[in-house]
Amino acid sequence: MAQTVKSKEKEKKVVKVAVFSTKNWVSGSFNVVNKKYGFELTYFESRLYKKTAPLAKGFDVVCIFVNDQVQEDVLVELKAGGVRLIALRCAGFNNVDIAKAEELGIGVVRVPAYSPYAVAEHTLGLILALNRKLHRAYSRVRDGNFALEGLLGFDIHKKTIGVIGTGKIGQIFIGLISGFGCRVLAYDKFPNKELEAKGVKYVSLQTIYAESDIISLHCPLTYETYHIINEYAIRAMKRNVMIVNTSRGPLIDTAAVIEGLKSGVVGYLGLDVYEEEEALFFEDFTEKVIQDDQFVRLQTFPNVLITAHQAFFTHEAVDNISHTTFENIEEYMQTGNSNNLVLPPKSE
Ligand code: NAI
Repeated sequence: MAQTVKSKEKEKKVVKVAVFSTKNWVSGSFNVVNKKYGFELTYFESRLYKKTAPLAKGFDVVCIFVNDQVQEDVLVELKAGGVRLIALRCAGFNNVDIAKAEELGIGVVRVPAYSPYAVAEHTLGLILALNRKLHRAYSRVRDGNFALEGLLGFDIHKKTIGVIGTGKIGQIFIGLISGFGCRVLAYDKFPNKELEAKGVKYVSLQTIYAESDIISLHCPLTYETYHIINEYAIRAMKRNVMIVNTSRGPLIDTAAVIEGLKSGVVGYLGLDVYEEEEALFFEDFTEKVIQDDQFVRLQTFPNVLITAHQAFFTHEAVDNISHTTFENIEEYMQTGNSNNLVLPPKSE
């Protein structure tokens, strides 16, 4: 009997997973969770893109993160190499050509929510730090400079907050910021009735721009939202507005926001994501010369605070990412389906 079980176990094909964009916090958590699943994990530090796609040959699954680039050419190479599934260990899937993947019969799964609290709380952190200039105060006090000049902030109480995108993260952010006693205006393609019942007012983007003191972005990156914050949007905003983006970099036209900062229309800018972040984020550049002049220009403004895509990065979120990713892979490899399958948008 025991022998049969053993030989059956032998027959069971081990799922081979190529994990791209690996960092210690990824492999550390994956190795623990994998004890339950027994997948054959191979870790690659490099991102998955055209040049590194051949590394995926012979794997059943590629597991990727926010800055891997899986467009048509990469998908064709993955298919030829036998890959059946792309397991995103993040919520956003703008970096994968979903329609092409479906056409090639490659499944795409994601982690729809690992901790909306983490991102919403980080957004609030950026707002508070920018307003009260905590990032500057920290260095000053350490240097023995206890003067207050240049550190003047404003009460968030009674200010108007414009929230673009009221999904999981946007809703939690609204809950947090409402604690300050603010007026919240929202814009979403699909307004949420429950939020309306709680007093959130859905308005047009133009009204958000015209009336908000703080604008926070929580919509996904799509063709519609690409550069949603452009020179025209900025021109329509109140002078000295605070813009915070913890969603996806290309929601903001960087050149336009730099002009907005120079003219003073944009009084504060908080970014956890950046249009060209693939070339920079998640790597250590302390000993290197940064070639991205726009990014370097952004760093010169005293009223800009940038974090490197860390809004999600809490113990709870990392744990959820690992568990959901492994469940997704197991489910898809056994059934060809998953609750977290990403499908191309239906044409109307
Ligand atoms: P969600 O899918 O729950 O909510 C997105 C909302 O945006 C939905 O209510 C949807 O109707 C709305 N939306 C879609 N198209 C729109 C448009 N054209 N204009 C206005 N609203 C539109 O997503 P969730 O979980 O709230 O995440 C939001 C975004 O946050 C993700 O797409 C992802 O890009 C980003 N994110 C960033 C992280 C970070 O570490 N910085 C971590 C996780 C997510």
